[in-house]
Amino acid sequence: MKKLVVLTGAGISAESGIRTFRDSDGLWHDHDIMEVASPEGWRRDPELVLGFYNQRRRDLCEAKPNTAHLALARAEDTLNVHIITQNIDDLHERAGSTKVLHLHGELTKARSTADPSLVYGIEGTELSWGDHCELGSQLRPHIVWFGEAVPAMPEAAEIAQSADVFAVVGSSLVVYPAAALVQYVPYGVPILVVDPKDVAVPSWREITFIRENASTGVPKMLEAIRKLG
Ligand code: APR
Repeated sequence: MKKLVVLTGAGISAESGIRTFRDSDGLWHDHDIMEVASPEGWRRDPELVLGFYNQRRRDLCEAKPNTAHLALARAEDTLNVHIITQNIDDLHERAGSTKVLHLHGELTKARSTADPSLVYGIEGTELSWGDHCELGSQLRPHIVWFGEAVPAMPEAAEIAQSADVFAVVGSSLVVYPAAALVQYVPYGVPILVVDPKDVAVPSWREITFIRENASTGVPKMLEAIRKLG
């Protein structure tokens, strides 16, 4: 089976009602990244940070996978699909995708501030000050904040290097190291991008652009991949 590696960003979840970051109504237009998505912000006001992610968890509870998530899950019938997502939602998993690597963490999980290897599922939507791990230390969102390392990057680079086809769906490709994954794709491997806007892909390679929303663009992308033979 041909190996399709798909790097997804906030745009694939936009039609599920999950806000993107840098669109005109994006999250970073009414939240200060450094206050709610950085270690400094956590040190300064952990309850503000906990509240920011609790609200996103409540939003996620109302959201459902859309056509794009479902099409990628169904594509596993004919392709060896590996998803590398920058998203912290669980919509790929809920759509039925079985190989999903979260580069920036997972909204539905918390981890110990004493031992980052201690990761726990969050019951419901709320993670509060005073919720402790088994070692007695405060739990924090299991999210990669700005300025923190991306532990899954080596694994993601290896997956990108083994792609027969590589696609980017719904990402502005402005955040590193995730955006650099395109540079790990071997020469000769087709690259397709699905996004309603122009995306500056950090590569001199020939790119096939499908300038549409994910819900219509991903099925078209999969059809184009089928035609590649
Ligand atoms: N279908 C497909 N793409 C869409 C749609 C849609 N319906 N709506 C918006 N987009 C596109 C936008 O045009 C943009 O290119 O999705 C992209 C969203 O870009 P960002 O908001 O920058 O999101 P993303 O690329 O995932 O951000 C990367 O930045 O803030 C950090 O950790 C956060 O993982 C995030 C990272």
